[in-house]
Amino acid sequence: MKLKTNSKGLQGFLEIPKDKSISHRSIMFGSIAEGVTEIHNFLHAKDCLSTINALKALGVEIKDTGSIIYVYGKGFKGLKKPKAPVDMGNSGTTIRLLSGILAGSDFKVTLFGDASLSKRPMNRILLPLQKMGVIASGINNTEFLPLSILGTKNLKPLYYQMKVASAQVKSALLFAALQAQGESVILEKEITRNHTEEMIKQFGGQIHFQGKEIRLTGPQNLKGQKVVIPGDISSAAFFMVAGLIIPNSKIKLTNVGLNETRTGIIDVIKTMGGKIIVNSYKGQDQKSGDIVVETSDLKAVEISGAIIPRLIDELPIIALLATQAQGVTVIKNAEELKVKESNRIDTLACELQKLGADITPTNDGLIIRGKTKLHGGKVSSHGDHRIGMVLQIAALLVYDAQVKLERSEAIATSFPTFFESLLAISK
Ligand code: S3P
Repeated sequence: MKLKTNSKGLQGFLEIPKDKSISHRSIMFGSIAEGVTEIHNFLHAKDCLSTINALKALGVEIKDTGSIIYVYGKGFKGLKKPKAPVDMGNSGTTIRLLSGILAGSDFKVTLFGDASLSKRPMNRILLPLQKMGVIASGINNTEFLPLSILGTKNLKPLYYQMKVASAQVKSALLFAALQAQGESVILEKEITRNHTEEMIKQFGGQIHFQGKEIRLTGPQNLKGQKVVIPGDISSAAFFMVAGLIIPNSKIKLTNVGLNETRTGIIDVIKTMGGKIIVNSYKGQDQKSGDIVVETSDLKAVEISGAIIPRLIDELPIIALLATQAQGVTVIKNAEELKVKESNRIDTLACELQKLGADITPTNDGLIIRGKTKLHGGKVSSHGDHRIGMVLQIAALLVYDAQVKLERSEAIATSFPTFFESLLAISK
């Protein structure tokens, strides 16, 4: 598709789509809890629909009225053997968390997904689940999809030092630990998003987490709840950056989730000298707020260490931000980018170079020299929603030339209304 170029500035308000991580989890918790869960503000994007369809295939009754979703949970025991292999689509969160949920069911399930998901590593969940007694493997004894999961009613608790900083792995193990006989202890490599821990508490479960240590004693029964989902900071990030780098811009993004395990991008923008104001308030379930950004003079920054999991999904758009900052930005310790919906170290470097950016891939990150003037070109999302959105925001800075994006449909994975939102604030 032909992207919007030649931006004269962004102005106005934008209500950001709702949080993808919390949307997935709200369906999952509703399914394994007892009683009705009522979900407000669910993100109707492709990834989250994969989760709904998977749990329906496992026998859970889910009614979607458009504005509210009702999940009629019957506890873990309410899950039934599906009639056929279950489709995970493009969604890493669905397959990894669902594997943990299935750990306590004594029927065999096959999980498959699209070409991108089929390349992503699964040993990170398969190996610890095997330690708990689950018979779990990828095809032909590899770690890749389709996965076969045969759980057990006699799950052993787990003491586990995590090898990667991953909320998906942590969450899979917590779902399994909820069904195990005894206390599980999970030690994180770095602190990652804590929505699963927060929702265990919200659904009436017992969990203790402090720093990198999480303790949970199973088995536990959860109770259905009302869940109100805030805006997704990972989607807001595209417009936060757009507002900072496009001349004549000032925009307000409303009702954005501000869980501190997710707000690394705000810290980075402040360090870079970006003009950003955050007005936070206690949302119905979660801390949320309005974010105002305006065109800024930016300076380069180093991003590494413990902050990486707090902005892992925002690194693609931060890479574009760095192309418009004065100096050399270095992103380190971000090797996890290689195993996202695409190898984001390679796809970012390759696609932004095509538009004239000075960006070099490294083993665990990127080196970006700014400030560069961008030019037209033909680029691809590589089927990765976040790469597609980065390229559209980059194209806004291209004047008097065209930018064509291949595989733009990937954007619907997390932000189906992205192009309409952009239009709504374009001058
Ligand atoms: C997610 C965790 C992150 C993130 C993904 C969503 C989640 O993955 O990249 O988009 O909802 O738990 P990892 O935990 O594997 O880093």
